[in-house]
Amino acid sequence: MECKTTGLLTLSPIQPTWWQQGVIYQIYLRSFQDSNGDGIGDLAGVIERLDYLSHVLGINALWLTPFYPSPMADGGYDVADYLDVDPRFGDLATFDRLISEAHARDLHVIIDYVPNHTSDQHPWFVQSRSSHDNIRHDWYIWADPRPDGSPPNNWLSVFGGSAWSWDTTRQQYYLHSFLPQQPDLNWRHPAVKAAMFEVLRFWLERGVDGFRIDVAHFLMKDPSLRDNPPNPSMSPTFWRSFGAYDSQLHLYDHAHPDVHHIYRELRQLLESYSQQQPRVSIGELYRPDMGAWATFYGRDLDELHLPFNFRLLATPWNALAIRQSVDELEAVVPTGAWPNYVLGNHDEPRVASRLGHAQARVAMLLLLTLRGTPTLYYGDEIGMQNVSIPPEHLDDLWERNLPGLNLGRDQERTPMQWDNSTHAGFCPPEVNPWLPIIQIDTQHNVVAQLTNPSSMLSLTRRLLQLRRTYPALSIGNYRAINTNMEDCFVYMRQNGPQRLLIALNFAQVEQELHLIEWDTGRILLSTHLDREGQVDLAHLTLRGDEGCIIGI
Ligand code: GLC
Repeated sequence: MECKTTGLLTLSPIQPTWWQQGVIYQIYLRSFQDSNGDGIGDLAGVIERLDYLSHVLGINALWLTPFYPSPMADGGYDVADYLDVDPRFGDLATFDRLISEAHARDLHVIIDYVPNHTSDQHPWFVQSRSSHDNIRHDWYIWADPRPDGSPPNNWLSVFGGSAWSWDTTRQQYYLHSFLPQQPDLNWRHPAVKAAMFEVLRFWLERGVDGFRIDVAHFLMKDPSLRDNPPNPSMSPTFWRSFGAYDSQLHLYDHAHPDVHHIYRELRQLLESYSQQQPRVSIGELYRPDMGAWATFYGRDLDELHLPFNFRLLATPWNALAIRQSVDELEAVVPTGAWPNYVLGNHDEPRVASRLGHAQARVAMLLLLTLRGTPTLYYGDEIGMQNVSIPPEHLDDLWERNLPGLNLGRDQERTPMQWDNSTHAGFCPPEVNPWLPIIQIDTQHNVVAQLTNPSSMLSLTRRLLQLRRTYPALSIGNYRAINTNMEDCFVYMRQNGPQRLLIALNFAQVEQELHLIEWDTGRILLSTHLDREGQVDLAHLTLRGDEGCIIGI
């Protein structure tokens, strides 16, 4: 069968900025590098590893998960003070040093901003719950019980149970979309918005390059607190089953259209700081309807720079489905807006465990060659796998609240495997890391893989190097290519005269592609890292689990 090109051709930005050209590396701070021997990763540990990120790996932006003072009910996504650093992770002076050391290496720093909820230990909530007369009494979402004493409506917490908890002092319920220890802020109150925008200014003044906005769509709810309708089919609200949470259609408890006003204002704030140093906003958004997802760019591209795109996590791993997913995304991203792709994060099972090591290499090639900013989860560059955590070490309350549903996230949050020593070089041998490193073997660590020319790390480094060498890979246009093999996904990236074909085999067996639109090409990289040079594109053989980048 002949190969044809689709009509879909997407265009490069005219003046790409750092967050369009570069690659974001997510650091799950608790697990990256412990510098002070307490078994918990910290900011000084990240500073120690900056050379790895910039010189060895070659990424240009890092995203730090929360480092704020926190009781750690939800791994730091329960913030007790937005304007400081938890002593576990360091202090403000260390944070400032991290920014300047990162910037000195051309690394941009994105921090987590957690606007939907605070910790129940945050002084704002302590005041709010203290009395109806307190100055902050309406900074959170309080409501009276129904006549029978039950919660004000049927909304559910993502982490299990009702989204409402009773407060004995106020004799009212407060809303928590996640844990009871994470009360939702009332963003309809102008003083709340002002205070939370001050938080952004505080960190912008300290030099951060952008924010990853936690559950960005949750900020606005139905003001009249209507009940959610039932979802009799129990179809997943997002892309995998969340248990009883999926028994409702979540029409009213998040993503009220008013949320867009917030992001328009937030964007203006970022723009006012972007003259010298362009800053970026990245929203964590779970909107399975791609049209609804795309609205977060803003009607005039005046909201979020990048609404996180989790489709690679949600799509079945086969060539057809992945191509459809990419094409749908390309079709829905507004003209002038910029796509992005995520392959793993601290809320999702490890990609190497989900797909197996061989396909994880194909997945890495895909992530780093699609049009859009890739986000790479720490450890995926060495093929880290889920670690099974014994019950006595479980940290994630989601797992403890809803055991047996496979919702726990500790498995993908274990310490980075730097070397082959006890605790993998994450913390001193005599200290217990906060989560155990159990499945350590001799291969899945940075030191071993650096000297192995065919390792996952060697592949990732080579891919990142090619992205820097060939602008077609970072900012080029994207065009899907129809092929004769249904297990293969082929696309072209083009920037001016520079054209690269990406050919991915999702099957374990060999495939012969007939790409007769071109005669010969030059293999620049195979995921097997064992071949380069001239190939006949009319008879291009891809081995099982092989992906190639081919210059044409
Ligand atoms: C986001 C975070 C997740 C956290 C939740 C509640 O989804 O990524 O880790 O538990 O928000 O803050």
